[in-house]
Amino acid sequence: MIEKEFGVPFPGQILDPTQWVQTALKKFPEDGFLDFTAIFGRQAPIVIDLGCGNGRFLIQSACSRPEFDHLGIDVLPVVIRYARKRGNQRGLRNLRFAVGGAYELLNRYIEAASVQEIHCYHPQPYYDPKDVSKRLITPQFLTLVVRSLKLGGIFTIQTDHPGYWEYIKNIMPIFFDWKELTGTWPDSPRGRTRREIIARSKKLPIFRGIGTLLSIGNLDEISERASQLKPPLFNADRRLQELDRLA
Ligand SMILES: C[S@@+](CC[C@H](N)C(=O)[O-])C[C@H]1O[C@@H](n2cnc3c(N)ncnc32)[C@H](O)[C@@H]1O
Repeated sequence: MIEKEFGVPFPGQILDPTQWVQTALKKFPEDGFLDFTAIFGRQAPIVIDLGCGNGRFLIQSACSRPEFDHLGIDVLPVVIRYARKRGNQRGLRNLRFAVGGAYELLNRYIEAASVQEIHCYHPQPYYDPKDVSKRLITPQFLTLVVRSLKLGGIFTIQTDHPGYWEYIKNIMPIFFDWKELTGTWPDSPRGRTRREIIARSKKLPIFRGIGTLLSIGNLDEISERASQLKPPLFNADRRLQELDRLA
């Protein structure tokens, strides 16, 4: 059976139940960092998707890059349930999904200089002024991304929100070697994630770029510099809010 989302096939194939696996990561350590070698039973480059939603991007990546291990996290238990089910049914041993906050994950559970790739697709812009402080992409959050990445590691960020993008594209070069990307993803021309597929179907522009960590600076200095930078205080366009209910 081929599963589809908005007419776009979902990556991977549902295997015979005898080959299903468990992709749930249910426990975080009381103290210390996640031990990826113990979790995956091997040493491999780590890919993390923050706010992974139903896991479409990570599932595609885990299917097409078996040499990488993957962790997706989202605050919403219901989307993680969908992600896990699909990951389980595809027998993906190089994939785990957890319920939790992106900031908290990096801040408490990820060892410095341990991750190859961090991805964040369509972070919520938060429309209500009282929720503005929940916006994920802040100078402090980017400091944690820098701390988590290995030298040469990448941070991929994508949004369809013009206000958020204006903020992101100005702040990313302060932390990374930054490159804006145009066009569609070669690996997923119709969209890497559910939200991208929906946004494309509504003819919204998709903004994206990749930051590469080219030098590991002094983290205290980076934090100090981050504390001088502005938070994301753009005006959210409420017309885009309806799409968030679908995504
Ligand atoms: C617009 S959706 C995008 C989902 C997916 N990345 C995609 O592109 O389809 C934003 C997702 O981020 C999650 N989210 C919001 N704040 C978060 C946080 N602080 N930590 C982790 N996930 C968060 C939401 O639950 C939601 O699933």
